[in-house]
Amino acid sequence: MGTYIVRGGRKIEGEFHVRGSKNGTLPVLAACLLAEDEVVVENLPLIRDVLQTLDILQEVGCRVERRGRTVTIDSRYLSTVEIGSEMVKRMRSSILFLGALLCREKRAKLAYPGGCAIGRRPIDMHLTAFEKMGAVISAEDGMLDCSAEKVTGCHIYLPFPSVGTTENILLLAVKAEGVTVIHNAAREPEIVTLARFLRACGAEIYGEGTSSILIEGVCRLHGAYFTIPADRIEGGTFLCAAAMTGGELALRGLEREQMGAVLETLRMTGCRFFWEDSDLLWMKPPRRLVSDFTIVTGPFPAFPTDMQPLVMSLLTLAKGSCMISETVFEARFSQGEALCRMGADIRIFGENACIRGVEKLRGAEVCAKDLRGGAALLCAAMAAEGESVVHGSQYVERGYEKIEDAFSFLGGDIKLREERNFYAEEKIEKTE
Ligand code: UD1
Repeated sequence: MGTYIVRGGRKIEGEFHVRGSKNGTLPVLAACLLAEDEVVVENLPLIRDVLQTLDILQEVGCRVERRGRTVTIDSRYLSTVEIGSEMVKRMRSSILFLGALLCREKRAKLAYPGGCAIGRRPIDMHLTAFEKMGAVISAEDGMLDCSAEKVTGCHIYLPFPSVGTTENILLLAVKAEGVTVIHNAAREPEIVTLARFLRACGAEIYGEGTSSILIEGVCRLHGAYFTIPADRIEGGTFLCAAAMTGGELALRGLEREQMGAVLETLRMTGCRFFWEDSDLLWMKPPRRLVSDFTIVTGPFPAFPTDMQPLVMSLLTLAKGSCMISETVFEARFSQGEALCRMGADIRIFGENACIRGVEKLRGAEVCAKDLRGGAALLCAAMAAEGESVVHGSQYVERGYEKIEDAFSFLGGDIKLREERNFYAEEKIEKTE
């Protein structure tokens, strides 16, 4: 819990190796519960959400041994199927343990996830799919109780290609009796990561990355070695910071096909890109960023909602005006007000935000309210004139590994000051 002190005006530039994907790691760690031997996962990002997921695994009885970015997980000693409210409060993605525990033990109890900083985030699609596969679900005293005598494959039509729902169905279907087909499945790269991991453990999955995924249930999953791919959102964050400060950046580790919509948008602002060796991305920003277009967030391959706050931050400095429509999560413009305190011209009308570019931002004292919104404020602070004080590092730390060190390495002037009492610990809200 702390505050970033940023002295803006320095270029973010140089070469950086992007760390492992947060949203790719969390489902893989939940999936470790399904393997009947040890699993070794490499290239973990050392961020709060990942460390807390490892704590959850330990709390349910798994043996977890981490050395740096590599963790060995042995789930043979699972001792409970219950995940209490403390854990769910800390980690929204603990919802994925529901599918994993139900698959493994035919029983799972999870505290009901409540609202969070980026909208209501219901879990109705997860539960409807589980019921269709044979689960009986009841809710009492804030706990969801799921049990199944038999889990049976079936056709599931998702009303929206939800990432978490697709992951949860995959987790349950890999050992279900018969074949499951997910129609209108999410196509995000994180789904591909989870499917690759499960396949490495012996699962039969076809079609991941498309809107129809077929899963043929198997009796047993074994252990595996697996490497987490690079984080497309971390990569995008540094691209925005570099573009806003006029720095040239080279990012290593990213997968080209995951970056399409983000690079396309940055290209429209005048940034130029080229790939070298298929995993080294170079970016050269223009002298002045430009806008005059509309961004609509949506399921992959559309523009990712997680990049929306960052690109909003970038557009505050682009000549012209731009509209962003947020179609995935409600209430995801939390960074808008703080950006305006820094001199930005942003108007928000429900799920739409209009941004008129200004010549410069000025340093200010602002508060992060969620993970990506917090990172967006740091990018703005890097580009602003003078000093900024950005409170609420606990949000940023959920998804970025020592972002202050990364920015310093790339030429920024940023320090993290630990502060005990700025927010009460229980006020840390769940996002993403
Ligand atoms: C995941 C990512 C998050 C990203 C999001 C969309 C992780 C840990 N989080 O979140 O970073 O922003 O995908 O790319 O990987 N919905 C329902 N009912 C449900 C489930 C979802 O109505 O049962 C709605 C949500 O409220 C939201 C939309 O569907 O409006 C998308 O949610 P979903 O794709 O499930 O996002 P997450 O998996 O929560």
